[in-house]
Amino acid sequence: MAPITHVPRVVLVTGGAGFIGSNFIRHQLSTHRDVRIVNLDALTYAGNPANLTDLATDSRYRFVHGDITDKTLVESLLSGDRVDTLVHFAAESHVDRSIDGPAAFVRTNIDGTAVLLMAAAAVWKGRRDVRFHHVSTDEVYGSLGPSGKFTEQTPYDPSSPYSASKAASDHLVRAWNRTFRLPVTISNCSNNYGPFQLPEKLIPLMISNALEGKPLPIYGDGKNVRDWLHVEDHCRAIDVIARSGADGATYNVGGDNEMTNLAIVETICAALDRLKPDPRGTPYRNLIAFVADRPGHDRRYAIDAAKIQRELGWKPVETFHSGIAKTVSWYLAQADWLKASGANTRTRQGLINR
Ligand SMILES: NC(=O)c1ccc[n+]([C@@H]2O[C@H](COP(=O)([O-])OP(=O)(O)OC[C@H]3O[C@@H](n4cnc5c(N)ncnc54)[C@H](O)[C@@H]3O)[C@@H](O)[C@H]2O)c1
Repeated sequence: MAPITHVPRVVLVTGGAGFIGSNFIRHQLSTHRDVRIVNLDALTYAGNPANLTDLATDSRYRFVHGDITDKTLVESLLSGDRVDTLVHFAAESHVDRSIDGPAAFVRTNIDGTAVLLMAAAAVWKGRRDVRFHHVSTDEVYGSLGPSGKFTEQTPYDPSSPYSASKAASDHLVRAWNRTFRLPVTISNCSNNYGPFQLPEKLIPLMISNALEGKPLPIYGDGKNVRDWLHVEDHCRAIDVIARSGADGATYNVGGDNEMTNLAIVETICAALDRLKPDPRGTPYRNLIAFVADRPGHDRRYAIDAAKIQRELGWKPVETFHSGIAKTVSWYLAQADWLKASGANTRTRQGLINR
């Protein structure tokens, strides 16, 4: 296991009102007693302050409503709050929405990341006791055939406006490290799942629709393969990278759970049949409906996470089996949250006329 080389004391989290960011903030505050968190979030449709209501009385936590493209604001937070660590989640994150409206993805994911880098380089000028951690995706690597896995050396080959914007942001982060010597780390991870994910994404969408007896839409033939990472395993990985990762290094983070979309949906249906059977006794899998595929849909992603395991001693705690059971139970217990979050996010996006 690598030694700790950086101890975050004040962390500026961007996009902390979203799915992974809110889980990360909760993880940080429950794991490290002496850390302070400033959460900068624009509260787009994807940001929900209710994800963090339990922290409202924690004096170590502060929420700032603002945009990462506002350089004056970012600089004032970095210097005024004496931030020594920036963990950058804020993004437009839904592939289908990037097909309908790519401009927002360019603005937040590329311009926003550039603003954060410029602000950090200006405020932290020459400091080595600081760190900028950039959270990215395995989608930057494009699509795999039936075998092989993405390593940190896999060439970038993004397919969607979303993944292209994330690829651009990764390049900017590396450039600021090499050109301006800004201390950075990058993680590229697979599909996350767990509490507080909006029901525009596969797993909460399927749970939400199943509970309402609505069709469970599966793109194409349902054989697209993704690796699934429990969000708490992801938070642990970011924590270890921020503390022990090598300056300028990239780490792939995966859950070692490759599954087809169809298998995921069948697993969710089986869990719901057990935990909350349909009142008429109909198996939830009868609701599965195949729909037109996503344009440019990548066939398979798989992560080789050997580097973070070997160099930093991280490995996932959850298997898909344990993680999905916890996740389905969480959504069942949070029916109000699910309903409120689903109000504007469950309609199909990203279908283009070819
Ligand atoms: N969810 C996944 O499976 C996954 C996988 C790999 C990588 N990632 C990356 O992890 C990060 C977080 O993903 P997520 O699923 O939690 O996203 P999310 O869509 O749930 O949350 C994004 C958050 O960013 C905020 N935001 C958006 N634009 C902003 C702006 N201009 N200024 C300030 N805040 C803004 C939103 O309000 C929201 O709170 C993203 O960078 C994403 O690319 C996600």
